Amino acid sequence: LHVNWDMTAAQKGGYPHFMIKEIYEQPETIRSTILPRIKNKHIPDFTADGIPDTVFEGVNRIVIAACGTAMHAGLVGKVMLEKLLRIPVSVEIASEFRYQEPIIDKNTLVITISQSGETADTLAALNLAKEYQGTTLSIVNVKGSSIARSSDYVLYTHAGPEIAVASTKAYTAQLSCLYLLAFRFALVKRTITEEECVNYMEQLQAVVPAIEETLKFDKKIEEICKNLKEKEDLFFIGRGLDYALSCEGSIKLKEISYIHSEAYAAGELKHGTLSLVTDGIPVIALATQDSVFSKMISNIREVRARNAFVILVTNGEKEVDESIYDYHIALPELEDSLAPFTAAIVLQLLAYHTSVHRELNVDQPRNLAKSVTVE
Ligand code: G6P
Repeated sequence: LHVNWDMTAAQKGGYPHFMIKEIYEQPETIRSTILPRIKNKHIPDFTADGIPDTVFEGVNRIVIAACGTAMHAGLVGKVMLEKLLRIPVSVEIASEFRYQEPIIDKNTLVITISQSGETADTLAALNLAKEYQGTTLSIVNVKGSSIARSSDYVLYTHAGPEIAVASTKAYTAQLSCLYLLAFRFALVKRTITEEECVNYMEQLQAVVPAIEETLKFDKKIEEICKNLKEKEDLFFIGRGLDYALSCEGSIKLKEISYIHSEAYAAGELKHGTLSLVTDGIPVIALATQDSVFSKMISNIREVRARNAFVILVTNGEKEVDESIYDYHIALPELEDSLAPFTAAIVLQLLAYHTSVHRELNVDQPRNLAKSVTVE
């Protein structure tokens, strides 16, 4: 008897690529990130991570430094941290930050985010923050990695090994950590009450079943992507959290489908990009935030008037004039601040299926590496 035993196929657990396997793992990985940090049912707690509340007490500014997808997780984190803490948060591209003269002192919390924990620029940013006496906290996936070892405090993402170059489950695990941090920090700073914190934590846990529901759009998204595979340019637009998410959607698509794409804050369209929106250009319009929903609809009308091919994503069913989109994905409804989790799944699937339709190397795109340990 001869058995053909392919180790890689076995590791993919029946999925054709690591990326899609990792996309589907997200309900589980988010659970692994959140559950060990819940105390008394609903309060986030980092005692087991060795992060005492005193870390947050004197902090009057937060700097987040990271690269690529991890930096994009920081963009979402910034919105949540500022909303709950009312202190300034800046998000820095680590390769830029490391060569600047940062404004950091002992009251600055510097959060570095890295899946691998080995990205050279992020490590250099961390070391610079230490030189300036900042308190350093890292959100890292790989245990014992260089960034984890060099930081004052570490919050592990517990997402398990991520093999595909395009980061998926690490991103949503990073978001989970940033949200947990925001909740605990705000509780310590008393910018939210315990009751509000409990409420936020319940909503965060509701993300898991909502992602399970969102994964059911897989087939529909595969269909939609047939329309994208021949395109050369496309745009992602959004406002607020949706803009932060657009940045991630765009990089994901570029990385593995090799289609040029740009993320645009929807309000900026008229300051340049609109001149590039021509007949049939796909525009992925994220409209998950109620506070700017009508503004987004106006922006979509603007691109639609130029005959853009519009894929609309909303948080829950929304009454929208059908003439302004080609496809509409109504995500399972979450509180608006949690919508990045479900919207991220849609963007990951869009990138994945476009790459598959184009018959590209999904897991190992040309010229890119999973971990960039050189400058
Ligand atoms: C590389 C990877 C990206 C990743 C970035 C940061 O460019 O291809 O997927 O987002 O590095 O990696 P890190 O391990 O620091 O999160």
